[in-house]
Amino acid sequence: MQFSELVKKYDVPAPRYTSYPTVPYWTDTPTAQEWIESLRRTLTRDKNYSIYVHLPFCETLCSFCGCNTVITRNHNNEGEYLEALEKEWKNYKRLVPELESLLPKQFHLGGGTPTFFSAAHLERLLSNFLPRRGSAATQVEGSVEVDPRHCTREQLEVMYAYGFERISIGVQDLDPQVQRAVNRLQPLEMTQATVDSARSIGYTSVNFDLIYGLPKQTLASIAESMKKTLELRPDRIAFYSFAVVPWMKPAQSSLEKFLPNAEEKRHIFELGRTMLLEAGYVEIGMDHFALPDEALSQAMNSGELHRNFMGYTETKSSVLLGLGASSISESEDCYHQNEKNLADYYRRVAAGEIPTLRGHRLTEQDMQRRQQILDLMTRFETEVTLEQRETVRGLLSELIADQLVDLQEDTLTILPAGRPFLRNACVAFDDRMNAARPRDNLFSKAV
Ligand SMILES: C[S@@+](CC[C@H](N)C(=O)[O-])C[C@H]1O[C@@H](n2cnc3c(N)ncnc32)[C@H](O)[C@@H]1O
Ligand code: SF4
Repeated sequence: MQFSELVKKYDVPAPRYTSYPTVPYWTDTPTAQEWIESLRRTLTRDKNYSIYVHLPFCETLCSFCGCNTVITRNHNNEGEYLEALEKEWKNYKRLVPELESLLPKQFHLGGGTPTFFSAAHLERLLSNFLPRRGSAATQVEGSVEVDPRHCTREQLEVMYAYGFERISIGVQDLDPQVQRAVNRLQPLEMTQATVDSARSIGYTSVNFDLIYGLPKQTLASIAESMKKTLELRPDRIAFYSFAVVPWMKPAQSSLEKFLPNAEEKRHIFELGRTMLLEAGYVEIGMDHFALPDEALSQAMNSGELHRNFMGYTETKSSVLLGLGASSISESEDCYHQNEKNLADYYRRVAAGEIPTLRGHRLTEQDMQRRQQILDLMTRFETEVTLEQRETVRGLLSELIADQLVDLQEDTLTILPAGRPFLRNACVAFDDRMNAARPRDNLFSKAV
């Protein structure tokens, strides 16, 4: 079957599996005490942990955006938010004393727009968590999401001084018509200036976020955007499918009449992907491409690729501690999400609480399924138990017949041609979702 026919056939709603169970199927929220005990237990076994700090503010709303944001031009918010983050971190250190002396292995600033915060505020934030470059034997792997429309050299220098070497730049699309349609004007020169600044400061890895399926996108426009992107030669490229979820993000409703139809979207994806592969990028699991000598490609080759709420990483850590409003954390047997509402988040951290919104305590079966899905997402192979085998064979019969996956005895393998359909294969292991159909309204389409 032609690639385009396969893309059409497997374009059904499916999760992106940055967690298992996926958030809509979390059922068993841990109490604060259970969550803290789980964190401590996991940290005793594995001292490698990562911190994610969510900085939610953006000055304007990009109408495609599916992230947890607070839109404001009021920069007085910065100080109040920082204070709350500092309180939250103190609360954690009081309850999990191990954190007082353990440096995180990875530290990620995400958003919203982290560079909404001034250089001085970023410095204050980072000094709570990290040593300055050169002052400690081990340096954390720091990374940040950067919006070139709001990013100064000074901000990049401050983060570099705390060990940051990776930036992920929000590009989305370089075509002015598409940019106008999504309320995000960002000339190529602006993106280029951020790349040049970062590289000249010493950042070693530059990622671009691009999205296909945006309003007004055409085959000609994506070809041009991709050509310009490739000229800047980012080390990594995330090529996301536009997740259209207007029931959760009402601003997306105004875009619907300008969207490419399903078939056009699929062709846009195929063209973009082909251009990336022809330019020498390697396809990493889902949505991601990297240059062959880049750490992510090497981790994929050596079987060390990992995936969590932050997406693909080459460093495995058993705890991801998410701080800030709406942040999600993960331990070996729990997920935990913070309050999304700013006022509630502020109030609860000020009262010395862990600001739980919801979470999930994983059962033994959840943990087994989580490992299988993670194996598929990172190593393209997983073990299938005897009891599962016939169910999995049934659920994947079409993918098997189309030679996209191979099920031999106790091993399911994603064949090279099946990599673009990874999430369709993972669905066979998603007992929670499969037990709770219909699912069509919960997730965006796979392609
Ligand atoms: C927090 S933003 C990045 C940082 C910064 N706010 C910016 O936009 O440059 C994270 C990324 O999520 C992706 N994203 C946001 N909404 C999306 C959607 N509805 N579908 C697919 N990707 C989306 C975008 O590519 C975006 O760069
Ligand atoms: S895409 Fe980035 S800048 Fe735009 S609204 Fe979303 S988080 Fe903010």
